[in-house]
Amino acid sequence: MPNIVLANDHGAVELAARFADHLKKNGYTVNHLGVHSPDSVDYPDMANLACTEYKKGGYEFGILLCGTGIGISISANKIEGIRCALPQNSYAAAMARKHNNANFIAFGGRIDYSEDPVDMLQAFVDASFEGDRHQRRIDKMMALEHSC
Ligand code: RB5
Repeated sequence: MPNIVLANDHGAVELAARFADHLKKNGYTVNHLGVHSPDSVDYPDMANLACTEYKKGGYEFGILLCGTGIGISISANKIEGIRCALPQNSYAAAMARKHNNANFIAFGGRIDYSEDPVDMLQAFVDASFEGDRHQRRIDKMMALEHSC
């Protein structure tokens, strides 16, 4: 059964719960690391928690949420080996996997998306990495982690 790791700050408690529900209904095992309450936490801590868990292995991908998705995705992308996408819509969500082989996807709980974010998440789930020239670009992208 595919495993997903999920973490969010206080700005996305409801959307994170919707995502967990949706994935579980579709046969996924979701390791939801919190938070489940509106009490304030710091999004870099939640990104660190989820990425550290993901790097233990056994996860298909991870999901991160904060108010905008911006802070938590920037934080995740500071962690070695993580490629966290912050899609605008379903097209970008699918492309994040097809071309960027993103291992995390981020959303904003306070963002008014033009489509249901659950559909955006599903577009990511349904897509597969296309490899080939995209792998070359990802290799270059990841090499930037050690470039300066
Ligand atoms: C928390 O208030 C908020 O700053 C956070 O959820 C996120 O939007 C940051 O990028």
